[in-house]
Amino acid sequence: MTKRDNSLQRRFGPTALVTGASDGIGRAFALQLAEQGFNLILVARRRTALRELARDLGVRFGTEVAVIPIDLSAPDAVATVLEETKGAQIGLVIAAAGFGSVGPFLHQDMASEINMVDLNCRSVVELSHGFGQRMAQQGRGGIVLFGSLVGFNGAPLSATYAATKGFVQSFAEGIAAEMRPLGVQVLSVAPGPVGTGFAVRAGMQMGRAATPDTVARSALAALGRRGTVRPGALAKVLGWSLAMLPRWGRVRVMGVIMKGMSGKDTAGTPAPGKDTAVSRG
Ligand SMILES: NC(=O)c1ccc[n+]([C@@H]2O[C@H](COP(=O)([O-])OP(=O)(O)OC[C@H]3O[C@@H](n4cnc5c(N)ncnc54)[C@H](OP(=O)(O)O)[C@@H]3O)[C@@H](O)[C@H]2O)c1
Repeated sequence: MTKRDNSLQRRFGPTALVTGASDGIGRAFALQLAEQGFNLILVARRRTALRELARDLGVRFGTEVAVIPIDLSAPDAVATVLEETKGAQIGLVIAAAGFGSVGPFLHQDMASEINMVDLNCRSVVELSHGFGQRMAQQGRGGIVLFGSLVGFNGAPLSATYAATKGFVQSFAEGIAAEMRPLGVQVLSVAPGPVGTGFAVRAGMQMGRAATPDTVARSALAALGRRGTVRPGALAKVLGWSLAMLPRWGRVRVMGVIMKGMSGKDTAGTPAPGKDTAVSRG
């Protein structure tokens, strides 16, 4: 039997909170953190999926797991999470809950786009503020936020989603510098395509997707060592290549990539409602 590596748990504290834990990347984090000896608080909307995961982690790793089924895009959701976790000594927060839309901006459903901003940006700011304050008081902690390869410039056919990820990237860089002297490490994870429900739900082709496991492993290895990590070979290669272009060139290339992955076009698009896809991811 291989020896458990508990070094992260010793560095950050006994309990980790993971949002978006019912699926995809958040779920992969939950598994790896349980394996490393963390107790867990799992947050997402689907109560049954969270409970099943909690039971599984308890059986496999003896992990203490609490679940908070909640819609984090709702105005008072993060306040509820902060209230419900008051007594817990949370050393690590993984804010993986998020979703995106694909298709021409003018054909998107406005309520859904605003909901995306609420979840991907507002809830992330609130979580970082609430838990950041607690961690600063403890003198240690880690916060993992999710940017994306598409968050370093505008992305046609995924304009709002890319902008939410650009917001998170910039926000993470700013608070990382502020919180580091307080003992709190902040990491932005900026993957390229990852093989989760995202691609399936959006009807996108993601040929060379990284696995959620790779994303979680790279992020946990980078936490406290770097400010941004780009997990997966494709994210690295595309990131380096795009970085050599001027910003307008990156936007153009991103448009070609998004067109190829989504099968949608910015011009001569079909009628609204026929070509929009909303995807968590
Ligand atoms: N997959 C990719 O290609 C990719 C690439 C770059 C960055 N990312 C980022 O990585 C993060 C995780 O993505 P993923 O691929 O793991 O997506 P995913 O498989 O679709 O999982 C998303 C998770 O977020 C939860 N969630 C969605 N809306 C929520 C809400 N309103 N309130 C609470 N929880 C909510 C979902 O659970 P419930 O449905 O149970 O609520 C699910 O657990 C996201 O921030 C995404 O933007 C993904």
